[in-house]
Amino acid sequence: MQPNTVDLPKIYDEAQDFMPLLGTDYIELYVSNSKQAAHYYKTAFGFQDLAYSGLETGVKDRESYVLMQDKIRIVLTSPLKSGTEIGEHIEKHGDGVKVVALWVPDATHAYNEAVKRGAKHYMSPTVEEDENGKVTRSGIYTYGETVHIFVERSEYKGIFLPGYKAWQSTYHPTDVGLQYVDHMVGNVELGEMMTWCNFYRDVLGFAQIVSFDDKDISTEYTALMSKVMSNGNGRIKFPINEPADGKKKSQIEEYLDFYEGPGVQHIAVATDDIITTVRDLISRGVEFLRVPDTYYDAVLDRVGKIDEDLAPLRELGILVDRDDEGYLLQIFTRPIEPRPTMFFEIIQRKGATSFGKGNFQALFEAIEREQEIRGTL
Ligand code: FE2
Repeated sequence: MQPNTVDLPKIYDEAQDFMPLLGTDYIELYVSNSKQAAHYYKTAFGFQDLAYSGLETGVKDRESYVLMQDKIRIVLTSPLKSGTEIGEHIEKHGDGVKVVALWVPDATHAYNEAVKRGAKHYMSPTVEEDENGKVTRSGIYTYGETVHIFVERSEYKGIFLPGYKAWQSTYHPTDVGLQYVDHMVGNVELGEMMTWCNFYRDVLGFAQIVSFDDKDISTEYTALMSKVMSNGNGRIKFPINEPADGKKKSQIEEYLDFYEGPGVQHIAVATDDIITTVRDLISRGVEFLRVPDTYYDAVLDRVGKIDEDLAPLRELGILVDRDDEGYLLQIFTRPIEPRPTMFFEIIQRKGATSFGKGNFQALFEAIEREQEIRGTL
């Protein structure tokens, strides 16, 4: 169970939900070197060994490492030969998120409901079994080549999925206090944000909880529009961004150019002690975006009193924002692959249920300084 919740419309009734979603089950990235990526996620981000599948488990065409940290499960998959769907995905997009798997009570029902409501088929309901029981999975496409896989695991006692064995290495860096996926953001093409918000509303029964337009999020050069969609119980939140007109190329367009289509822009992971987590991540070599130091001269005037001392926030580059319900602390990594595409957000919520709108201006200016260096602005 994920502890994050949003205020739901009074009409929400879990029993009436045609698409009950229990939470994020796992996130699978297609990467060019799963073995080395697994080492990076352990060393840099504090993920722990969980499961493995590949030649040693009888799988001939791919290798997958499964890592976990508290409630977060990440699967890193590489092909073992040429001409595979996985290899073609990596060739086109670079390393990136292929699957956002959703934990459901009934994967067959979820698939049937989604397809009936217009979802594009990815994987028919499929039962996989081993000595630990059975898992049913099914899948639909979302934006670009990204897919949602529905995972029904109530009759499974194994470590991850049938076909995986426990992964036991001799290398165990400590975790960094990451707890659960707070939200995952998709970038889609100009004019397509509403298409995908409507998809989440109509196909998965999500509701819109927040909206930003280019008046909220614009700098001299770039702008974006964003709407946040949430499922009924508030455990799954998917902001959808599209570029808006600016004088120069926006960060969303830069992403779309380099990812060669829509895809997952960032995965926000929650901690309950962001100062310790970020200090640890920096010491392990994770690179974060920095806003100008002057941000900290004015931040407390904007957000009011907070529990934390300002000095470590300034030292580490952690940002603060407030909404009607409380405040939040957040920081964004640089892209974690060669292309300027996916990155992580580390977030600590102290009551706030929003996404850091007050930081967008400072952040986008920071991103533009990096785009300028990349020559992609
Ligand atoms: Fe975010």
